[in-house]
Amino acid sequence: MSRILTGIQSTGVPHLGNILGAIQPAIKLSQDSKHEAFLFIADMHSLTTIHNADTIRENTYSVAAAWLAFGFDTNKNTFYRQSDIPEVTELTWYLSCFTPYPMLANATSFKDKADRLAEVNAGVFMYPVLMAADIILYNANYVPVGKDQMQHLEITRDIASSFNSHYGETFVVPEATVTENVMLIPGIDGQKMSKSYNNTINIFLPDKDLRKAVMKIVTDTKSVDEPKDPDTCTVFKIYKLLADETQIKEMRENYMRGGYGYGTAKEALFELIVKKFIKEREQYNHYMADKAELDKKLKIGADKARLIAKDTLKKVREKLGYKN
Ligand code: ADP
Ligand code: TRP
Repeated sequence: MSRILTGIQSTGVPHLGNILGAIQPAIKLSQDSKHEAFLFIADMHSLTTIHNADTIRENTYSVAAAWLAFGFDTNKNTFYRQSDIPEVTELTWYLSCFTPYPMLANATSFKDKADRLAEVNAGVFMYPVLMAADIILYNANYVPVGKDQMQHLEITRDIASSFNSHYGETFVVPEATVTENVMLIPGIDGQKMSKSYNNTINIFLPDKDLRKAVMKIVTDTKSVDEPKDPDTCTVFKIYKLLADETQIKEMRENYMRGGYGYGTAKEALFELIVKKFIKEREQYNHYMADKAELDKKLKIGADKARLIAKDTLKKVREKLGYKN
């Protein structure tokens, strides 16, 4: 059985793009009996940009609640909060001493953030080393990530190999698995849905607010009577990702026939979201109203993860010449 591991930063409530593009595919992967999945909330990585305890805490719960609401099985898999395993920071230090400084200085995401952020802390610079420790600590074989994280995976592989060549085979050198054709969910303005563009649909909002968000989807100015092109319309594009064949066919015909306004299409989309995610929205609210339950689940995961973390660190300390 191979171990797959991935981390999600706790930077906000997961939106429809995160759900369809990342959460659902990862849950599907984790259900395969050939794999054992480690999934954690990277709340220490979030500290590079969020310096508010309540925000970090709340975001962590939102992310955890969303994964659980979509059916992530915490019995088969290991689900935990990064900050619950302090061993990861000790390993980060050890690994940093095997990380060439220019490799971090030249990392695209560091250069990008260094250009954009008003203040660049050393955590932003060290970010890939903490990520390497996240992976190496648990002997992960495969790491599913988006294209933007590929370079961080290469850094992880370099660090693991460098350590292995100094001290003998110690770490698993992980492989990245990149889904090439992830669907790109458009946001309410038609661009890629992203927290950074402020164009997200948060399906966990109460009905009234969710309807408001759907009604804000930008369309052209065609009148109700005019025939419309479904394939260039964001409302239809999102509808298509959620509806069944018959519903899609019906809406397509409505668009092309004319006499069907965008307001009606938006209402249909809103109702579809509510109907499709009825269970998940309820579950999300259930968990968000019961943080003790979330803490309990995360604690079970942390206990499982910590055993492995301790074991890896023991091995590493021994190799480095420290007393256990
Ligand atoms: P954001 O762009 O909102 O900050 P993140 O970068 O935190 O989102 O992405 C978390 C995960 O969700 C990643 O795996 C990413 O590939 C996926 N994801 C984000 N936005 C979309 C989208 N619009 N369509 C498909 N997948 C997405
Ligand atoms: N840096 C990743 C991201 O922003 C999150 C992450 C942290 C991660 N540690 C990880 C992903 C370890 C995979 C493995 O998406």
